[in-house]
Amino acid sequence: MKRLIIDTDPGIDDSMAILFALRFPEIQLEALTTVFGNVGVEQTTLNALRILEVAGRDDIPVVPGAGKPLLRDYRGKGYRVHGRDGLGETNLPPPRAQARPERAAEYLISRIMGSPGEITLVAIGPLTNLALAVSLEPRLAQNVQELVIMGGAVAGPGNATPVAEANIHNDPEAARIVFHAGWPLTMVGLDVTRKTVISSAYLARLKEAATPITDFISAVTAFYLRHYRERLSMDGFYVHDPSAMGYVLDPTLFQSQKVYVDVEIGDGRSSGQTMADWRGQWEQPVNVNVCLDVDSSRFLDLYFEHITRK
Ligand code: RIB
Ligand code: CA
Repeated sequence: MKRLIIDTDPGIDDSMAILFALRFPEIQLEALTTVFGNVGVEQTTLNALRILEVAGRDDIPVVPGAGKPLLRDYRGKGYRVHGRDGLGETNLPPPRAQARPERAAEYLISRIMGSPGEITLVAIGPLTNLALAVSLEPRLAQNVQELVIMGGAVAGPGNATPVAEANIHNDPEAARIVFHAGWPLTMVGLDVTRKTVISSAYLARLKEAATPITDFISAVTAFYLRHYRERLSMDGFYVHDPSAMGYVLDPTLFQSQKVYVDVEIGDGRSSGQTMADWRGQWEQPVNVNVCLDVDSSRFLDLYFEHITRK
């Protein structure tokens, strides 16, 4: 049994990743911690509660976290991709369950330090909550079983800017703290998430399963498909957060390499860039296991099999 806590900014692809994890019997999803990112943290928290309700798992705690980056104002442009409600402007009714009164940073510390070496932490939004937590309790990095993030890009362009991926760009200072805190860290970045595309035909097949989960995914992805069609002339969308969950569920889907990665901070044009030192020129110890390739068709089959299962 793999015990997970997911730190998330739902978010259409976040919802697809969370529902994927919930369909795996070997996975025990212990909590969702929420953060600003695709939309504000109030909205990402409501969306996290909604997603768990769709899956009939409103027993899982949702713990709100940071509403802004460590040092800068929240620039919130994710609504253009995820809709103003963060779930493709489906404007779902309010969730029945309530978020927990705790705050994400302290909650992560208490749960991880309470089960040393047991919890796999999956971060699929900006890294602000993790930076706050590991700044309060530096031993956190040595007490997770593993940290897997969706973020960054080392061999290709960014998406938020020409050089920066959105989760890192949303809080570069938090990302630098996290990248240098000593976790067993795997980065599932744009280098691999852009290699897998979910097409409209794949979604149509998914919809035929006609379960509450596939109905939800079909509803929230309509907006996403439109954005990709209009902005990128694509029939389908890149699979960002579900790819990170795919690594957690079956790492053999990916090829990766350990390397020293640093994060550009500040307000310049390169802010949020993740820079890999492949030749060791900066003479720093490797700190990240970077995913560089993925078996996309095997991933898509795994996703389809588990998401459509009755
Ligand atoms: O760059 C993609 C990432 O930014 C994903 O996590 C998506 O949900 C957004 O948060
Ligand atoms: Ca996300």
